[in-house]
Formats: sequence, structure tokens, C-alpha cells
Amino acid sequence: MAARKPLIAGNWKMYGRSAALGEIPALWAQVGGVAGAIDALICPPAPYIAAARQAAAATGVQIGAQDCSPAADDSARTGEVNAAMLADVGARYVIVGHSERRTLHAESNDLVRHKAEAALAAGLTPIVCVGETLAEREAGRVAEVVGAQVRESTPADARIVVAYEPVWAIGGASTPTIPEIEEVHHLIRETLAERLAGEANGVRILYGGSVGPKNAAEIFAAMGVDGALVGRASLKAADFAAIILSHPAAK
Ligand code: PGA
Repeated sequence: MAARKPLIAGNWKMYGRSAALGEIPALWAQVGGVAGAIDALICPPAPYIAAARQAAAATGVQIGAQDCSPAADDSARTGEVNAAMLADVGARYVIVGHSERRTLHAESNDLVRHKAEAALAAGLTPIVCVGETLAEREAGRVAEVVGAQVRESTPADARIVVAYEPVWAIGGASTPTIPEIEEVHHLIRETLAERLAGEANGVRILYGGSVGPKNAAEIFAAMGVDGALVGRASLKAADFAAIILSHPAAK
């Protein structure tokens, strides 16, 4: 199997002000020693991306965005930010199709795929989020729902990252069991392989949803888990560093 470098990404959502950017060098002070083995990424709110890049300049922390326009080219779209602009101010990755956007902004699989394609066209790595709701899990529809999301919201391109984020585990207290996580990660890779064949082995698949310093090691040890997408626990350098340092690649 192709070696996949772990990626541990912090999604700051709509939290923080300029002062929060100090967490970036503080994070590096704690994780710099393992940086060769693990990609560490912070995705701040859009207005802070350029300043975050500055704050990360002397570090190996990478900076990403939380969303982008599906339109690749500059055009008349008031309020939108395209992937080329994000790349221009120093972003390397962009999260697309997070469940909060799918829910609050009615984003469809098609729209998410267009965003991921626009990201790739600008040289960014899209982190495409998928995941079932509690009702879907309870109805036994995990494979159907997540399979359709992977088929319809990822471009047929191995330069993507997929994040499995069960909607019910985000912002809460519970996570799936390790076998449940492994089962869905396996399903995602099999679904990617339908279009990408062997290249699917190179795609990193992250777990997200209530990852914290206490459960990260167990989640990272799960089969097929190539890192994490972390919300709340990425806001403070100490917590996020503890998560990164608990990865086996950090030992
Ligand atoms: P959480 O959020 O870690 O706070 O549960 C994860 C996410 O929404 O990406």
C-alpha cells in the first residue's frame, strides 16, 4: 500500500480574532519536532488566512480555508471567494462540504464536487467532508448515504483528502466505536477505488467529530485512519499539540 503521510487538520470554524493567531507559533513550539512525519494544518476563518500564513511563516504549520466558491475564475459573485484567491494568500488546503455547510447552506453533493474541482484547479488540496446523520445511522443507511456522498461529491482525482465526519459526532460528546470508524473508512476507500483503482490507496481519509487529546491515540490507531479533522480541540495550541503528539508517527 502506498505510504500516506498523516494529516491532522484544525477547523477553527467561525471562532477567534487576530489574537488567536498566536496559537500557531505556540503550536509549532510543541510539535515542530515531529513535523517531518505529520502534516499539521490550521484552517482559520477567511479574513484571517493571510495573517495566519504570516504567523506560520517561520513554522511548518500549513494554512487552509474552510470553503471556496465553485467558480474557478474571477467573476461577478458578490461575497464569494475563489480558490485562486485563497492560494494567493497562502492557503494550501480547503475544506469543502462540511456538514455545517451542507445543512445551513443547503450544499448539494454536486455543489461540493464543483468546489473541490475549483480547489484542484487552483492548486489547493480539497478536504471533502462526508458523513451520515444519526437518523441515517439508526435506519441502517450509513453505507448508502456515505457511498453516495463519496461518489457524487468527490472529483475523480487522487489529489484529494476525504474526511469522514459523522454529523452526530460533531460538536458533541460521542464518537463512533473504533470498528464503526474502520468500517466506514474501508467503505470510503472502496468507493474511491471504483473510479481511481489503485490510486485510491494514496488518498488520505481523515476522521472528524469530537476528536480530542483523550481519544486521539485510539482513533489514530484505527485501520485506514490517516489523520483527523478537529474542531473545538484545535482552537488551543496545547490541546491540538497533544492530539498531534499522540499520533504513532510522532513517536
Ligand atoms: P469537533 O468538530 O471536533 O468540535 O466535533 C469537528 C468538525 O466539525 O470538523
